[in-house]
Amino acid sequence: MDGGRLWETLHSLAEIGATPAGGVARVALTDEDQAGRNQFVSWALELCCTVHIDQMGNVFARREGTDPLRAPVVVGSHLDSQPTGGKYDGAYGVMVGLEVLRVLHDHDVSTAAPIEVVSWTNEEGARFPPAMIGSGVYAGAFSLDEGLAAPGVDGTTLGAELARIGYDGPEPCGQPDGAGRRPIGHYIEPHIEQGPILEAAGATLGTVTGVQGIRWYDVTIEGQSAHAGSTPMEIRSDAMVSAALLVCEVDVIARRRAPEARATVGTLETGTGSRNTVAGSVELTIDLRHPDAAELASMHDELLAFAAGERFADGPGGGAAGLPPRPAVSQIWYSPPIVFDPVVVDAVRAGAAAAGFEPVDITSGAGHDACYVSQAAPTGMLFIPCADGLSHNEAESILPEHATAGTQATLNAVLALAG
Ligand code: GLV
Ligand code: MN
Ligand code: MN
Repeated sequence: MDGGRLWETLHSLAEIGATPAGGVARVALTDEDQAGRNQFVSWALELCCTVHIDQMGNVFARREGTDPLRAPVVVGSHLDSQPTGGKYDGAYGVMVGLEVLRVLHDHDVSTAAPIEVVSWTNEEGARFPPAMIGSGVYAGAFSLDEGLAAPGVDGTTLGAELARIGYDGPEPCGQPDGAGRRPIGHYIEPHIEQGPILEAAGATLGTVTGVQGIRWYDVTIEGQSAHAGSTPMEIRSDAMVSAALLVCEVDVIARRRAPEARATVGTLETGTGSRNTVAGSVELTIDLRHPDAAELASMHDELLAFAAGERFADGPGGGAAGLPPRPAVSQIWYSPPIVFDPVVVDAVRAGAAAAGFEPVDITSGAGHDACYVSQAAPTGMLFIPCADGLSHNEAESILPEHATAGTQATLNAVLALAG
Protein backbone atom coordinates (compact mmCIF):
# COMPACT_ATOMS: atom_id res chain seq x y z
CA MET A 1 0.00 0.00 0.00
CA ASP A 2 0.97 3.62 -0.37
CA GLY A 3 1.22 5.32 3.04
CA GLY A 4 1.87 8.74 1.52
CA ARG A 5 -1.24 8.51 -0.64
CA LEU A 6 -3.36 7.41 2.34
CA TRP A 7 -2.07 10.36 4.42
CA GLU A 8 -2.72 12.83 1.62
CA THR A 9 -6.22 11.47 1.04
CA LEU A 10 -7.10 11.62 4.75
CA HIS A 11 -6.00 15.25 4.94
CA SER A 12 -7.68 16.22 1.71
CA LEU A 13 -10.94 14.82 3.15
CA ALA A 14 -10.31 16.74 6.38
CA GLU A 15 -10.47 20.01 4.43
CA ILE A 16 -14.20 19.38 4.07
CA GLY A 17 -15.70 20.89 7.22
CA ALA A 18 -12.26 21.98 8.51
CA THR A 19 -12.45 24.15 11.65
CA PRO A 20 -10.10 27.03 12.52
CA ALA A 21 -8.77 25.04 15.49
CA GLY A 22 -7.56 22.24 13.20
CA GLY A 23 -10.48 19.84 13.60
CA VAL A 24 -13.49 18.87 11.53
CA ALA A 25 -17.20 19.75 11.79
CA ARG A 26 -18.89 17.39 9.35
CA VAL A 27 -22.01 16.73 11.39
CA ALA A 28 -24.43 14.12 10.00
CA LEU A 29 -26.51 15.20 6.99
CA THR A 30 -25.26 18.79 6.92
CA ASP A 31 -23.89 20.35 3.72
CA GLU A 32 -20.40 19.39 4.91
CA ASP A 33 -21.43 15.73 5.34
CA GLN A 34 -22.89 15.85 1.82
CA ALA A 35 -19.61 17.21 0.44
CA GLY A 36 -17.61 14.52 2.28
CA ARG A 37 -19.88 11.81 0.86
CA ASN A 38 -19.59 13.27 -2.66
CA GLN A 39 -15.80 13.23 -2.37
CA PHE A 40 -15.78 9.58 -1.25
CA VAL A 41 -18.12 8.61 -4.11
CA SER A 42 -16.00 10.38 -6.70
CA TRP A 43 -12.80 8.69 -5.44
CA ALA A 44 -14.58 5.30 -5.62
CA LEU A 45 -15.82 5.96 -9.17
CA GLU A 46 -12.23 6.70 -10.27
CA LEU A 47 -11.46 3.08 -9.33
CA CYS A 48 -14.32 1.79 -11.51
CA CYS A 49 -16.28 0.75 -8.42
CA THR A 50 -20.06 0.71 -8.50
CA VAL A 51 -21.66 2.88 -5.82
CA HIS A 52 -24.80 1.75 -3.98
CA ILE A 53 -26.84 3.86 -1.57
CA ASP A 54 -29.50 2.37 0.68
CA GLN A 55 -32.64 3.90 2.18
CA MET A 56 -30.69 5.06 5.26
CA GLY A 57 -28.05 6.76 3.10
CA ASN A 58 -25.37 4.16 3.88
CA VAL A 59 -22.94 4.31 0.93
CA PHE A 60 -21.22 1.16 -0.43
CA ALA A 61 -18.41 1.26 -3.05
CA ARG A 62 -18.10 -2.19 -4.64
CA ARG A 63 -15.25 -3.90 -6.48
CA GLU A 64 -16.37 -7.20 -8.01
CA GLY A 65 -14.83 -10.56 -7.13
CA THR A 66 -14.37 -13.58 -9.37
CA ASP A 67 -16.81 -15.82 -7.46
CA PRO A 68 -20.37 -14.60 -8.00
CA LEU A 69 -21.60 -16.69 -5.08
CA ARG A 70 -19.40 -15.01 -2.44
CA ALA A 71 -20.71 -12.20 -0.24
CA PRO A 72 -18.33 -9.24 -0.04
CA VAL A 73 -15.64 -8.54 2.50
CA VAL A 74 -16.60 -5.07 3.70
CA VAL A 75 -14.27 -2.45 5.19
CA GLY A 76 -15.45 0.92 6.48
CA SER A 77 -16.65 3.24 9.20
CA HIS A 78 -18.29 6.70 9.09
CA LEU A 79 -17.64 10.12 7.53
CA ASP A 80 -19.81 12.19 9.89
CA SER A 81 -18.08 13.91 12.82
CA GLN A 82 -18.76 15.48 16.19
CA PRO A 83 -19.55 19.23 16.10
CA THR A 84 -16.02 19.85 17.42
CA GLY A 85 -14.53 16.65 16.04
CA GLY A 86 -11.13 15.52 14.85
CA LYS A 87 -9.84 14.55 11.42
CA TYR A 88 -9.61 10.80 11.99
CA ASP A 89 -12.58 9.50 14.01
CA GLY A 90 -14.48 7.47 11.37
CA ALA A 91 -12.72 9.01 8.37
CA TYR A 92 -9.68 6.82 9.01
CA GLY A 93 -11.66 3.58 8.53
CA VAL A 94 -13.31 4.71 5.30
CA MET A 95 -10.02 6.00 3.85
CA VAL A 96 -8.25 2.73 4.79
CA GLY A 97 -10.95 0.95 2.79
CA LEU A 98 -10.37 3.30 -0.14
CA GLU A 99 -6.61 2.66 -0.02
CA VAL A 100 -7.31 -1.11 -0.07
CA LEU A 101 -9.41 -0.59 -3.24
CA ARG A 102 -6.65 1.55 -4.78
CA VAL A 103 -3.97 -1.07 -4.11
CA LEU A 104 -6.07 -3.85 -5.66
CA HIS A 105 -6.88 -1.61 -8.63
CA ASP A 106 -3.25 -0.50 -9.22
CA HIS A 107 -1.90 -4.03 -9.04
CA ASP A 108 -4.81 -5.54 -10.95
CA VAL A 109 -5.44 -8.05 -8.16
CA SER A 110 -8.51 -10.27 -8.41
CA THR A 111 -10.17 -11.51 -5.24
CA ALA A 112 -12.68 -14.36 -5.06
CA ALA A 113 -15.10 -12.40 -2.87
CA PRO A 114 -16.06 -8.86 -3.87
CA ILE A 115 -14.64 -6.02 -1.74
CA GLU A 116 -16.90 -3.19 -0.58
CA VAL A 117 -16.08 -0.02 1.33
CA VAL A 118 -18.92 1.39 3.40
CA SER A 119 -19.64 4.74 5.00
CA TRP A 120 -22.49 4.40 7.54
CA THR A 121 -24.95 7.26 8.13
CA ASN A 122 -25.03 9.19 11.43
CA GLU A 123 -22.57 7.19 13.50
CA GLU A 124 -21.95 10.02 15.94
CA GLY A 125 -25.53 10.64 17.01
CA ALA A 126 -24.60 14.19 18.00
CA ARG A 127 -27.29 15.68 15.74
CA PHE A 128 -29.71 12.74 15.51
CA PRO A 129 -29.50 10.63 18.70
CA PRO A 130 -28.93 7.77 19.23
CA ALA A 131 -25.53 6.97 17.70
CA MET A 132 -24.94 4.35 14.99
CA ILE A 133 -28.44 4.65 13.47
CA GLY A 134 -27.44 3.84 9.87
CA SER A 135 -25.79 0.55 10.80
CA GLY A 136 -28.51 -0.03 13.44
CA VAL A 137 -31.26 0.05 10.82
CA TYR A 138 -29.11 -2.07 8.50
CA ALA A 139 -28.81 -4.72 11.23
CA GLY A 140 -32.50 -4.56 12.21
CA ALA A 141 -31.98 -2.98 15.65
CA PHE A 142 -34.26 -0.12 14.55
CA SER A 143 -36.93 -0.12 11.83
CA LEU A 144 -36.44 2.06 8.76
CA ASP A 145 -39.32 4.26 9.96
CA GLU A 146 -37.65 4.76 13.35
CA GLY A 147 -34.37 5.64 11.64
CA LEU A 148 -35.88 8.15 9.25
CA ALA A 149 -38.06 9.68 11.97
CA ALA A 150 -35.10 10.24 14.35
CA PRO A 151 -35.51 13.84 15.56
CA GLY A 152 -32.57 16.20 15.24
CA VAL A 153 -31.48 18.42 18.12
CA ASP A 154 -32.15 21.33 15.73
CA GLY A 155 -35.80 20.47 15.01
CA THR A 156 -35.14 18.58 11.75
CA THR A 157 -35.63 14.86 11.13
CA LEU A 158 -33.04 12.45 9.83
CA GLY A 159 -35.21 11.41 6.86
CA ALA A 160 -35.87 14.98 5.72
CA GLU A 161 -32.21 15.92 5.94
CA LEU A 162 -31.15 12.73 4.14
CA ALA A 163 -33.49 13.65 1.26
CA ARG A 164 -32.29 17.26 1.31
CA ILE A 165 -28.68 16.23 0.70
CA GLY A 166 -29.74 13.66 -1.93
CA TYR A 167 -28.59 10.52 -0.13
CA ASP A 168 -32.01 8.85 0.38
CA GLY A 169 -30.97 5.89 -1.76
CA PRO A 170 -33.12 3.17 -3.31
CA GLU A 171 -31.56 0.01 -1.86
CA PRO A 172 -33.54 -1.76 0.87
CA CYS A 173 -32.43 -1.25 4.46
CA GLY A 174 -34.31 -2.08 7.62
CA GLN A 175 -36.77 -4.66 6.31
CA PRO A 176 -37.88 -7.26 8.87
CA ASP A 177 -35.15 -9.91 9.29
CA GLY A 178 -32.84 -7.86 7.09
CA ALA A 179 -34.65 -8.98 3.91
CA GLY A 180 -33.16 -7.43 0.80
CA ARG A 181 -30.33 -5.59 2.55
CA ARG A 182 -26.87 -5.78 0.96
CA PRO A 183 -25.19 -8.99 2.11
CA ILE A 184 -21.94 -8.77 4.08
CA GLY A 185 -19.63 -11.80 4.19
CA HIS A 186 -17.19 -10.32 6.73
CA TYR A 187 -16.89 -6.77 8.12
CA ILE A 188 -13.69 -5.08 9.33
CA GLU A 189 -13.76 -1.58 10.83
CA PRO A 190 -10.35 0.12 11.22
CA HIS A 191 -10.52 3.05 13.67
CA ILE A 192 -8.39 5.22 15.92
CA GLU A 193 -8.50 3.95 19.51
CA GLN A 194 -9.82 7.22 21.00
CA GLY A 195 -8.31 6.27 24.37
CA PRO A 196 -4.85 5.91 25.93
CA ILE A 197 -4.32 2.12 26.10
CA LEU A 198 -2.27 1.41 22.95
CA GLU A 199 -0.09 4.46 23.45
CA ALA A 200 0.65 3.46 27.06
CA ALA A 201 1.49 -0.09 25.93
CA GLY A 202 3.79 1.22 23.21
CA ALA A 203 1.75 -0.81 20.68
CA THR A 204 1.22 0.17 17.06
CA LEU A 205 -1.92 -1.90 16.52
CA GLY A 206 -4.82 -3.23 18.59
CA THR A 207 -6.97 -6.25 17.83
CA VAL A 208 -10.41 -5.25 19.10
CA THR A 209 -12.13 -8.21 20.73
CA GLY A 210 -15.34 -6.38 21.69
CA VAL A 211 -17.04 -3.13 22.68
CA GLN A 212 -18.38 -2.04 26.06
CA GLY A 213 -22.11 -1.48 26.66
CA ILE A 214 -23.69 1.98 26.45
CA ARG A 215 -26.88 3.46 27.92
CA TRP A 216 -28.09 6.95 26.97
CA TYR A 217 -30.65 9.01 28.90
CA ASP A 218 -32.62 12.23 28.44
CA VAL A 219 -33.31 14.07 31.70
CA THR A 220 -35.92 16.78 32.23
CA ILE A 221 -36.10 18.79 35.43
CA GLU A 222 -39.11 21.06 35.97
CA GLY A 223 -38.81 23.65 38.73
CA GLN A 224 -40.12 27.18 38.87
CA SER A 225 -38.45 30.20 37.32
CA ALA A 226 -38.25 33.10 39.76
CA HIS A 227 -36.41 36.33 40.47
CA ALA A 228 -32.79 35.77 41.51
CA GLY A 229 -32.79 38.71 43.88
CA SER A 230 -36.16 38.70 45.57
CA THR A 231 -36.94 34.97 45.90
CA PRO A 232 -35.83 33.61 49.32
CA MET A 233 -33.73 30.45 49.13
CA GLU A 234 -36.18 28.35 51.12
CA ILE A 235 -39.10 28.80 48.74
CA ARG A 236 -37.22 28.15 45.50
CA SER A 237 -37.67 25.19 43.17
CA ASP A 238 -34.35 25.51 41.40
CA ALA A 239 -33.83 23.03 38.53
CA MET A 240 -30.14 23.95 38.32
CA VAL A 241 -29.53 22.70 41.86
CA SER A 242 -31.17 19.36 40.95
CA ALA A 243 -28.96 19.22 37.86
CA ALA A 244 -25.84 19.88 39.94
CA LEU A 245 -26.69 17.06 42.37
CA LEU A 246 -27.36 14.71 39.47
CA VAL A 247 -24.15 15.60 37.57
CA CYS A 248 -22.07 14.85 40.67
CA GLU A 249 -23.91 11.58 41.34
CA VAL A 250 -23.42 10.43 37.73
CA ASP A 251 -19.69 11.02 38.14
CA VAL A 252 -19.62 9.07 41.42
CA ILE A 253 -21.57 6.14 39.94
CA ALA A 254 -18.66 5.55 37.55
CA ARG A 255 -15.91 6.27 40.10
CA ARG A 256 -17.36 3.57 42.39
CA ARG A 257 -16.60 1.11 39.59
CA ALA A 258 -13.13 2.31 38.62
CA PRO A 259 -11.32 1.71 36.43
CA GLU A 260 -13.76 0.22 33.89
CA ALA A 261 -16.90 2.35 34.23
CA ARG A 262 -17.58 5.64 32.45
CA ALA A 263 -20.31 8.23 33.08
CA THR A 264 -20.78 11.59 31.39
CA VAL A 265 -23.22 14.50 31.38
CA GLY A 266 -22.39 15.94 27.95
CA THR A 267 -25.11 18.56 27.50
CA LEU A 268 -27.08 20.77 29.88
CA GLU A 269 -29.50 23.55 28.96
CA THR A 270 -31.78 25.75 31.02
CA GLY A 271 -35.15 26.75 29.66
CA THR A 272 -34.65 30.24 31.05
CA GLY A 273 -31.03 31.01 30.13
CA SER A 274 -30.66 34.12 32.26
CA ARG A 275 -28.19 34.89 35.03
CA ASN A 276 -30.75 36.64 37.20
CA THR A 277 -33.54 34.09 36.88
CA VAL A 278 -33.69 30.93 39.01
CA ALA A 279 -33.62 28.12 36.42
CA GLY A 280 -37.22 27.01 35.94
CA SER A 281 -36.24 24.03 33.85
CA VAL A 282 -33.14 22.09 32.84
CA GLU A 283 -32.63 19.43 30.20
CA LEU A 284 -29.49 17.30 30.29
CA THR A 285 -28.14 14.09 28.81
CA ILE A 286 -26.35 11.15 30.49
CA ASP A 287 -24.05 8.55 28.89
CA LEU A 288 -23.20 5.46 31.03
CA ARG A 289 -20.78 2.74 29.87
CA HIS A 290 -19.34 -0.54 31.18
CA PRO A 291 -17.90 -3.65 29.48
CA ASP A 292 -20.04 -5.89 31.72
CA ALA A 293 -23.82 -5.88 31.13
CA ALA A 294 -24.65 -6.64 34.79
CA GLU A 295 -22.44 -3.80 36.06
CA LEU A 296 -23.98 -1.43 33.52
CA ALA A 297 -27.44 -2.51 34.70
CA SER A 298 -26.47 -1.78 38.31
CA MET A 299 -25.22 1.69 37.28
CA HIS A 300 -28.63 2.20 35.66
CA ASP A 301 -30.40 1.09 38.87
CA GLU A 302 -28.28 3.45 41.00
CA LEU A 303 -29.04 6.37 38.71
CA LEU A 304 -32.80 5.75 38.84
CA ALA A 305 -32.73 5.19 42.62
CA PHE A 306 -30.88 8.47 43.15
CA ALA A 307 -33.38 10.36 40.98
CA ALA A 308 -36.27 8.77 42.90
CA GLY A 309 -34.66 9.44 46.30
CA GLU A 310 -34.87 11.87 49.17
CA ARG A 311 -32.64 14.60 47.73
CA PHE A 312 -35.48 15.92 45.55
CA ALA A 313 -39.01 17.18 46.11
CA ASP A 314 -42.01 16.19 43.98
CA GLY A 315 -43.98 18.76 42.06
CA PRO A 316 -43.08 22.28 41.02
CA GLY A 317 -42.42 24.86 43.68
CA GLY A 318 -41.29 22.02 45.94
CA GLY A 319 -39.80 24.56 48.28
CA ALA A 320 -41.89 23.26 51.18
CA ALA A 321 -39.27 20.63 51.90
CA GLY A 322 -36.50 23.02 50.96
CA LEU A 323 -35.46 20.56 48.26
CA PRO A 324 -34.92 21.06 44.54
CA PRO A 325 -37.32 19.48 42.00
CA ARG A 326 -37.15 15.81 41.07
CA PRO A 327 -35.47 14.92 37.72
CA ALA A 328 -37.39 12.77 35.22
CA VAL A 329 -34.84 10.31 33.81
CA SER A 330 -35.66 8.41 30.65
CA GLN A 331 -33.41 5.86 28.95
CA ILE A 332 -33.45 6.45 25.19
CA TRP A 333 -30.85 3.90 24.01
CA TYR A 334 -29.11 0.71 25.07
CA SER A 335 -26.24 -0.79 23.11
CA PRO A 336 -25.22 -4.02 24.91
CA PRO A 337 -21.59 -5.13 25.31
CA ILE A 338 -20.41 -6.83 22.10
CA VAL A 339 -18.00 -9.72 21.56
CA PHE A 340 -16.61 -9.82 18.02
CA ASP A 341 -16.42 -12.86 15.73
CA PRO A 342 -13.34 -15.04 16.37
CA VAL A 343 -12.70 -15.64 12.66
CA VAL A 344 -12.52 -11.92 11.88
CA VAL A 345 -10.61 -11.14 15.10
CA ASP A 346 -8.05 -13.81 14.15
CA ALA A 347 -7.82 -12.46 10.59
CA VAL A 348 -7.10 -8.97 11.96
CA ARG A 349 -4.52 -10.35 14.41
CA ALA A 350 -2.81 -12.37 11.65
CA GLY A 351 -2.98 -9.40 9.27
CA ALA A 352 -1.18 -7.25 11.84
CA ALA A 353 1.45 -9.94 12.46
CA ALA A 354 2.04 -10.36 8.71
CA ALA A 355 2.62 -6.60 8.55
CA GLY A 356 5.35 -7.04 11.16
CA PHE A 357 3.55 -5.92 14.32
CA GLU A 358 2.55 -7.52 17.60
CA PRO A 359 -1.01 -6.33 18.13
CA VAL A 360 -2.48 -5.94 21.62
CA ASP A 361 -5.98 -7.26 22.41
CA ILE A 362 -8.27 -4.40 23.43
CA THR A 363 -11.94 -3.76 24.30
CA SER A 364 -13.32 -0.61 22.69
CA GLY A 365 -14.47 2.17 24.99
CA ALA A 366 -16.25 3.96 22.15
CA GLY A 367 -19.29 2.70 20.31
CA HIS A 368 -18.87 1.83 16.63
CA ASP A 369 -20.98 0.79 13.66
CA ALA A 370 -19.26 -2.58 14.05
CA CYS A 371 -21.48 -3.16 17.12
CA TYR A 372 -24.67 -3.31 15.06
CA VAL A 373 -23.04 -4.88 12.00
CA SER A 374 -21.89 -7.73 14.27
CA GLN A 375 -25.58 -8.67 14.66
CA ALA A 376 -25.80 -9.19 10.89
CA ALA A 377 -22.38 -10.53 9.83
CA PRO A 378 -19.07 -11.81 11.27
CA THR A 379 -17.31 -8.62 12.40
CA GLY A 380 -14.04 -7.37 13.86
CA MET A 381 -12.11 -4.13 14.33
CA LEU A 382 -8.53 -2.89 14.24
CA PHE A 383 -7.28 0.08 16.29
CA ILE A 384 -4.34 2.41 15.83
CA PRO A 385 -3.20 4.74 18.66
CA CYS A 386 -4.08 8.43 18.82
CA ALA A 387 -1.94 11.01 20.63
CA ASP A 388 -2.69 11.27 24.36
CA GLY A 389 -5.78 9.13 23.77
CA LEU A 390 -7.59 12.31 22.78
CA SER A 391 -10.68 12.13 20.54
CA HIS A 392 -13.98 13.98 20.10
CA ASN A 393 -11.60 16.94 20.17
CA GLU A 394 -10.30 19.13 17.34
CA ALA A 395 -6.73 18.36 18.42
CA GLU A 396 -7.16 14.62 17.66
CA SER A 397 -3.87 13.44 16.16
CA ILE A 398 -2.26 10.24 14.82
CA LEU A 399 1.17 9.27 13.44
CA PRO A 400 1.56 8.52 9.71
CA GLU A 401 3.45 5.29 10.48
CA HIS A 402 0.52 4.07 12.61
CA ALA A 403 -1.94 5.00 9.85
CA THR A 404 0.15 3.03 7.37
CA ALA A 405 0.54 0.01 9.68
CA GLY A 406 -3.23 -0.18 10.24
CA THR A 407 -3.88 -0.06 6.52
CA GLN A 408 -1.32 -2.78 5.72
CA ALA A 409 -2.81 -5.01 8.45
CA THR A 410 -6.33 -4.40 7.13
CA LEU A 411 -5.24 -5.15 3.55
CA ASN A 412 -3.68 -8.43 4.72
CA ALA A 413 -6.85 -9.39 6.62
CA VAL A 414 -9.10 -8.48 3.69
CA LEU A 415 -7.04 -10.57 1.26
CA ALA A 416 -7.07 -13.55 3.64
CA LEU A 417 -10.85 -13.37 4.10
CA ALA A 418 -11.68 -12.60 0.45
CA GLY A 419 -9.30 -15.12 -1.08
C1 GLV B 1 -19.40 7.18 19.46
O1 GLV B 1 -18.62 8.06 19.07
C2 GLV B 1 -19.54 6.93 20.89
O2 GLV B 1 -20.24 7.72 21.53
O3 GLV B 1 -18.88 6.01 21.41
MN1 MN C 1 -16.02 6.83 15.22
MN1 MN D 1 -17.00 9.57 17.39
